[in-house]
Amino acid sequence: MHCSSKIAFNAPAIMGREIELLQEAVTRNRLAGDGYFTRLCQDWLRRELGSEKVLLTTSCTAALEMSALLLNIEPGDEVIVPSFTFVSGANAFVLRGAKPVFVDIRRDTLNINEALVEQRISSRTKAIAFVNYSGIGCEMESLSAIAKRHQIALIEDNAHGLFGKYRGRALGSFGTFATQSFHDTKNVTCGEGGALIINDAQFAERAEILWEKGTNRKKFLAGLVDKYTWVDIGSSFLLSDLQAAFLFGQLEQGRLIQALRHAVWQRYFDRLQPIAHDLDICVPQIPPDCEHAAHLFHILLPNQGIRDQLISFLRSQNIGSAFHYLPLHLSPMGRQFGYRQGDCPVTEEISGRLLRLPFHNRLTREEQDRVVSAIEAFHN
Ligand SMILES: Cc1ncc(COP(=O)(O)O)c(C=O)c1O
Repeated sequence: MHCSSKIAFNAPAIMGREIELLQEAVTRNRLAGDGYFTRLCQDWLRRELGSEKVLLTTSCTAALEMSALLLNIEPGDEVIVPSFTFVSGANAFVLRGAKPVFVDIRRDTLNINEALVEQRISSRTKAIAFVNYSGIGCEMESLSAIAKRHQIALIEDNAHGLFGKYRGRALGSFGTFATQSFHDTKNVTCGEGGALIINDAQFAERAEILWEKGTNRKKFLAGLVDKYTWVDIGSSFLLSDLQAAFLFGQLEQGRLIQALRHAVWQRYFDRLQPIAHDLDICVPQIPPDCEHAAHLFHILLPNQGIRDQLISFLRSQNIGSAFHYLPLHLSPMGRQFGYRQGDCPVTEEISGRLLRLPFHNRLTREEQDRVVSAIEAFHN
């Protein structure tokens, strides 16, 4: 029986001047990339993250692919990645011919287990590409020390983590590169979009060339060369300025978005944490070093069967919910690299137990009450 209106799992919302800025972008007579709004967004992100350089890209996937190109990843190389992540977190490196070396996650944060990383490093390892899952920072100190010891790069997939902090420092500022996503489901969105955050100045100039299809167009526009031509490999990674205009409207409202999302996150936590034991669920754990980004709210059920039944039950109550990543090492592609069941046991277990509850900027208290009541009804 469902008599009440639908509670969407995700619902993008206009938060400020997005429509006005889209109109302004059109009147500026330039919709291609690297325009007025692209620069506004890039400057905004650069200031927010304290980074060397920021380039808007068509997606986080594109930014991950740029980081693989910038590190000259080639066949035979290895890149360490968590198995519990989005496909692009491995694919960006596999596209260059590298082997993904999957590492398991921690039970508390669901981030890469830093204690397992060093034993997977070989003479072919070029980078550790970690994810700040659900906007909770990884163990940055350990990961940075390992990267330094082995002179390899850190790629910080911060798709979930804009506005999160680790020991007071912005997520997205720890990797040699960090990547952001502005996909529909993210805290700040323009439908599809992303950014490459460059935290090491030595990569800044080449990044602009790769971004501009392998040309020195940027230098030409700056009057530094008299012709623009093909100088390196590259592709078209630029976000349209039309999307950048929408994105800037969202970034301008970043504080409001975060306040709304933190309130949603906290309401779930305050309602569910006291009854978690009785309901046989686990709620997220935030380490004291971390200020999370209020990107999503997940619970863990006792096993996959119960998790899947709860998804169906919530659907019957007109409530959207979602599982998350399937272990990459057990995917058809992962198995082609020789991975098997048991290689990342925590990932295998958690992936089947995890459920993401409806989460968006405009989720109301009443809707959240309905979600919590439905979880209680399912258990009883
Ligand atoms: C951790 C992570 N990285 C990368 C991506 C890919 O982002 P995009 O859709 O912007 O390419 C996602 C997608 O949700 C993600 O969850």
